[in-house]
Amino acid sequence: MAGAAAGTAHLCTRCPSLLMSSSMSTLRYAARRLALAPVASLASSSSQSRGGISRVRLMGVLASTRPSLGGIRTTMEPCARRELSSSVRAKVIESGSAVVEESAEVEPVPSSSVPEFKKRLRIAEIKGGEDGGLRLVGQTMTVRGWVRTCRLQKTFTFIEVNDGSAVSNIQAVVGSDVEGYDKIEAGLVNTGASVAIEGVLVESQGSKQKVELKATKLTLVGGTDPASFPIQKKKLSREYLRSVAHLRPRTNTFGAVARVRTALAFATHQFFREHGFVWVASPIITASDCEGAGEQFCVTTLIPSSHEDPKTPLSKVPTTKDGLIDWSQDFFGKPAFLTVSGQLNGETYATALCDVYTFGPTFRAENSNTTRHLAEFWMIEPELAFADLKDDMACATAYLQYVVKYVLENCKEDMEFFDKWVEKDIVTRLTNVVEKPFVHVTYTEAVELLQKAKKKFEFPVKWGADLQSEHERYLTEVAFSGNPVIVTDYPKEIKAFYMRQNEDGKTVAAMDLLVPRVGELIGGSQREERLEVLERRIEELGLNKESYWWYLDLRRYGSVPHAGFGLGFERLVQFATGIENIRDVIPFPRTPNSAEF
Ligand code: 4AD
Ligand code: MG
Repeated sequence: MAGAAAGTAHLCTRCPSLLMSSSMSTLRYAARRLALAPVASLASSSSQSRGGISRVRLMGVLASTRPSLGGIRTTMEPCARRELSSSVRAKVIESGSAVVEESAEVEPVPSSSVPEFKKRLRIAEIKGGEDGGLRLVGQTMTVRGWVRTCRLQKTFTFIEVNDGSAVSNIQAVVGSDVEGYDKIEAGLVNTGASVAIEGVLVESQGSKQKVELKATKLTLVGGTDPASFPIQKKKLSREYLRSVAHLRPRTNTFGAVARVRTALAFATHQFFREHGFVWVASPIITASDCEGAGEQFCVTTLIPSSHEDPKTPLSKVPTTKDGLIDWSQDFFGKPAFLTVSGQLNGETYATALCDVYTFGPTFRAENSNTTRHLAEFWMIEPELAFADLKDDMACATAYLQYVVKYVLENCKEDMEFFDKWVEKDIVTRLTNVVEKPFVHVTYTEAVELLQKAKKKFEFPVKWGADLQSEHERYLTEVAFSGNPVIVTDYPKEIKAFYMRQNEDGKTVAAMDLLVPRVGELIGGSQREERLEVLERRIEELGLNKESYWWYLDLRRYGSVPHAGFGLGFERLVQFATGIENIRDVIPFPRTPNSAEF
């Protein structure tokens, strides 16, 4: 491990001081996260075991080469000399040089100092909670949203309004004496129209809801043409809804998907933040092909944009004397592409900040018309320094269980909706994911298992060939009864150049996490940190070594074992909602021949 300082630290749980000693100890995932977490998080653990001393392994890159780490390198202040106060104070002694002090006053921000900005009451706020809204009975309020149905009856009109905050609508009961009733009489309050209804919340006479709004004023905010509004109150196929993707969020399914998607994104950031990871914005435009699969979209100004000149003759594209495209005249002076993965950039930050993740859009020009592929999708890519494949697997497991648990606990109504209308028993399935350990098999074992399977596969199974979706699903759905399965140690020929080669010379330290219905949810690996081995692999694969100069530098200067993975965010949303087609879990899907909206 060139350039790395490693040793065992005594972490005092009473104060943020660390004492280094020379011996090494093995680490568990969480323990190491704590050891490398900022001093503030060490301090925050103090209340749990007062005065206790825990042994954790501490590793870091030499301070002089990575100043941003703060360079924990040698003995730190003994805890006994300092009292832990609300002010978090770290003393870090650089190698023979000046003392660097960082202090941060932790002052809770009073909530009253956040200016009030929201005047609209959300239906979720009214109807949420155990009592279904009964606590608010008697209060005057205004509900704003879109009409789902408007039923005219003899004495009253019932309007179901939805504002997208929940699956539930609120029912407004409008008498003929209510201000604005003329709009109903005029036939203007139709499905899809936007309204504001003022009234008093009362206990509902009906059995479907606990409360309803006794209207005192109805305002038609935006009318609609009932003859042409595409989202009528009837069962609409998902295929049809894709053709009206600008209006489909007004359906229950797409509203629920949007809310679960945002909860998953929030839980993702929360998980990584709780474990001391730094979010890195990897570039969307890149000159390197991370996966080496040549599935990149080119970003160029050589072809004028359609706004300038839609009828550009090919002869307008600049060429060299040899008749090749002259990329030197392109915007970036060389070919550039939309990224297929932020991993290579993520690795640069991992080899400085230790634990990082990216979360952003990625693009693949693969012509796959399947229910699991998009041309534009979001990827979450954690990268862990001083980590091997086992650590990577542990992180992937912890992450997936965390976000699934978060959704089960925080999106109850939406999950009940999916359970009833989309995938029967999804809540039980996901609860099992949270509670049961994941299965681990090697690729070789998986191949043997598939070869013994009674099922007839479309694609033959043989050692050396990539696992197809049908094989992946068989493993997780049938062979391991619905448990997530981590398959490791794939043949090097079917995996990317950056994966660490195993001792056997045939396989690499790769892992794929397979889940029911989706198949591959995560792909990851330990990275090849040995410069010569990596260079040899790049050459073997005929890749352009020069274009990876900066990536290879990470192995030249303070190389460390490191590992990471990529999770397709839309596949996670599919997994968590039971929605079959990936085009229905991203607001505006981009697939071959489809970039509408
Ligand atoms: O397995 P992949 O290709 O791995 C990588 O890109 C690595 N650089 C990740 C890493 O180690 N940092 O892609 C990762 C995941 C897949 O497991 C899958 O969930 C998703 O990205 N994915 C797609 N999702 C939707 N549409 C596509 N076309 C996808 N291709 C990959
Ligand atoms: Mg993969």
